Amino acid sequence: MCGIVGYIGDKSALPVLMDGLKRLEYRGYDSAGVAYVNGGGMGIYKTMGRIRDLQGILPEPLPEARMGLGHTRWATHGAPSDRNAHPHAAGGVVVVHNGIIENYQQLKSRLQSEGHEFASDTDTEVIPQLISRYMKKGMPFEAAMRRAILDLKGSYALGIMSDQAPGKLFAVRNGSPLVVGFGEGEFFFASDIPAFLPYTKKFVFMEDGQMFTLSKGEARLELLGNGGGTPVKKPEAPGFKVVEIDWTAEMAEKEGYGHFMEKEIYEQPKTVMETMREWIDDPPGMLRALGITSRMILGWRRLHIAACGTSYHAALVGKYAIEALAHIPVDVEIASEFRYREQLIEKNSLFISITQSGETADTLAAQREAAKKGAFSLTLCNVVGSTASREADSVLYTRAGPEIGVASTKAFTAQMTALYLLAVALGTERGRLIAAEAQTLIGQLKKMPLLVEKALGSARRVEEVARSITDSSSMLYLGRGINYPIALEGALKLKEISYIHAEGYPAGEMKHGPIALIEKGLPVVVVIPMGSLFEKTLSNIEEVKARGGRVIAVTDEPASLRGRADETITVPPTHPVLSPFVNVIPLQLLAFHTGVLRSNDVDKPRNLAKSVTVE
Ligand code: G6P
Repeated sequence: MCGIVGYIGDKSALPVLMDGLKRLEYRGYDSAGVAYVNGGGMGIYKTMGRIRDLQGILPEPLPEARMGLGHTRWATHGAPSDRNAHPHAAGGVVVVHNGIIENYQQLKSRLQSEGHEFASDTDTEVIPQLISRYMKKGMPFEAAMRRAILDLKGSYALGIMSDQAPGKLFAVRNGSPLVVGFGEGEFFFASDIPAFLPYTKKFVFMEDGQMFTLSKGEARLELLGNGGGTPVKKPEAPGFKVVEIDWTAEMAEKEGYGHFMEKEIYEQPKTVMETMREWIDDPPGMLRALGITSRMILGWRRLHIAACGTSYHAALVGKYAIEALAHIPVDVEIASEFRYREQLIEKNSLFISITQSGETADTLAAQREAAKKGAFSLTLCNVVGSTASREADSVLYTRAGPEIGVASTKAFTAQMTALYLLAVALGTERGRLIAAEAQTLIGQLKKMPLLVEKALGSARRVEEVARSITDSSSMLYLGRGINYPIALEGALKLKEISYIHAEGYPAGEMKHGPIALIEKGLPVVVVIPMGSLFEKTLSNIEEVKARGGRVIAVTDEPASLRGRADETITVPPTHPVLSPFVNVIPLQLLAFHTGVLRSNDVDKPRNLAKSVTVE
């Protein structure tokens, strides 16, 4: 989704803004732009395309300025084009925006009837036009800005400046993420932390309805709509929480890998370990730290989880794990569906949101709905200080570090790790897992970083298989039980990165539809670990073979697949309930290699955004 950056301080603004924009590229975008204000006036450069295209239209030497705004656009209202790229300006007011102004049509018609001429098809442009309207009516710029914001409906994070207020930069948040970075006598703001990690580790996560006025050496925070806006806090005042982030700039860099996605796939032994480190020896202690008491647990009749995309697949694995180990029913739902139906959630029950970014609009809405119904909300989240983490009753952090590749990989295994810890803890507390069983599972979980490392050893073999599917137009992924979500995730990864159509299905359900797709040579990936469903899945393989399908088996039991599968990818044996960890690795690698072989931009796949902050 759109990315915003802003800078004010002693540095030359445009290089800082361009650097920030590059670091936000992963969010997904189709156009980019920057603007500055200096003693001589203001300048705006924007274009459809990549940051390198923007670089190409900047003048040489760069204009000197100490403040400015930047933006990467992911089109919602108005096609990707130079004219629709941000920043947008009117009457000397410059605006960058992330989110959607829901009443923009109404505002635009009114402004047009008053003679305002629009230069773009975006919802955003109504903002500078509206500010200039109030200025024409005699209000000074800042008052006009505060007044105009009150007219906006929808979600927005805004960066605003004007040639009539040189030396002041404004950051506004309502519904879309915005963080303000505090440097030495300088300030940054951005949609996400990695934009400015090389410059500062100190951030304030803005809340809805807040506006920061940033000038050299001072940050003033106010609540908008509060009688036109009164400054209420200074940085050192209580309640103004500066969070110190422990991510480093290097963590958000490629470190010698060709792609972020590849680096993140290979980081998984470490990120799984980091996520379990604090609680692996005391999962019930984790519950207490999360504010979950034995009394609450005994009162729960079912648990609810909502999430989107890959996080939804982790939730499905969590359902199998929690039901198997803690014997409590778990409802898992896609967050965009959850939020718009009658939620039969009992008061005081447990609602879990799973979100890497902590900013996915639908997941946040689901969390808020559940809270409204009186549920205790727990979020499994990867970003300290994100909206989900601030709004939930309790947070279980995954420790995957910054995930830059748009297609999620290391966050997925970190989420599964957290869910297994939760499953073991709940099983123990509910008396469903006896101590010896819990110890066995914990012992196996401790080995998981090593087993994931071994599974990564399949990379060469996977690359060979990737060569054989590069020209396929469609694929099927099959799995059963706890590995059914892994089939879904494998298919999702392939779609996202290679643009090959892929469907994930429960192997036993194949006969009720997808079997009709099977023709000679159709690649069918089958996840088939040793365990109670092994024989059943073998039968599904026979059904695929009988119709000419080409079976690519992912298994810890290669000997039994000899002569049955066309290709076998071997993963290390694990406890059956933990097998998703090792099985997902070759599927991530398969998507990655296929995407690279097809010359796709795997870190920034077309049309996708890392963090979906609008509905
Ligand atoms: C987008 C990303 C996916 C991610 C999903 C949910 O679609 O491209 O990789 O799984 O959002 O994101 P979240 O941050 O809520 O986990």
